[in-house]
Amino acid sequence: MEDKVEKKLRQREYRYEREQRYLRKRSELDEVLEEVFDQQTLMTLYDLMNKRLIRDFYGVVSAGKESRIYLAKDSEDRDMAVKIYLVVSAEFRRNRLMYVVDDPRFKKTPKDFRDFIYLWARREYKNLETAYESGIPVPKPYFVRNNILGMEFIGEDGKRYPTLIEVELSEETYVKVYEQVMDAVEKLYRKARLVHGDLSEYNIFILPDDRIVLIDLSQAVHVEQPIADKLLLRDLKNISRYFRKHGVEVEEPEEAFERITGHPPIIPP
Ligand SMILES: Nc1ncnc2c1ncn2[C@@H]1O[C@H](COP(=O)(O)OP(=O)(O)O)[C@@H](O)[C@H]1O
Ligand SMILES: [Mg+2]
Repeated sequence: MEDKVEKKLRQREYRYEREQRYLRKRSELDEVLEEVFDQQTLMTLYDLMNKRLIRDFYGVVSAGKESRIYLAKDSEDRDMAVKIYLVVSAEFRRNRLMYVVDDPRFKKTPKDFRDFIYLWARREYKNLETAYESGIPVPKPYFVRNNILGMEFIGEDGKRYPTLIEVELSEETYVKVYEQVMDAVEKLYRKARLVHGDLSEYNIFILPDDRIVLIDLSQAVHVEQPIADKLLLRDLKNISRYFRKHGVEVEEPEEAFERITGHPPIIPP
């Protein structure tokens, strides 16, 4: 009998402690999260924290129109980048909130749109996974749930490394970096069977040892998708333009296209 009571008490204590922890986390989180997220997204976050996939949140690394990226810690105290796709973008919210805030008919975002965003997050996870497994330098993906994606943090001591747009390099470093980028695009096409689709100096990290990491693969497409050729040529043009500007002797985009795909670019108008 006593045993039973003790057990109950212990369970209750445990539950109390857990709830306290949950509440504490919740209020800290709320501060960090600045009201940009809808209820469903917060639920997903709490769920990820309860499951120990995310231990703690730190600052915002980037606040874009469609997503926000946070520095977080996993249960082993490793840095992690958590990308949260906005189901309702902050801007959209600011502009439209006053119309619907008191309207009982619009408590929820339409389910279809929510599902569409979730699909987008899963796509990026899947693309990262495929690329990572093919040996292409991209952040290692950790998990995806609804509109929240966890991946390797590209930086150190909680500070992200710069992207190409943010640095000035020596001439010979540009040459080395160019070669790596072209190599990554080729491997992405041939091994991972993907085209990045938004490749530019904004989506390429440069590490202290001059290695690169490609990011932002949500829009990457399979090479067999009809739009793949067009996107590949555009990526190659972006790369040529950027590196030519920095004094690198670059391969013509059309030539690179043919070398990589084995056929000349025939882009329908
Ligand atoms: N894995 C990561 N580690 C560190 N910083 C990252 C990581 N992924 C993205 N970032 C930062 O967040 C910014 C936006 O990320 P990105 O995936 O390009 O989203 P967006 O769709 O907003 O362009 C990047 O430019 C970079 O500064
Ligand atoms: Mg980007």
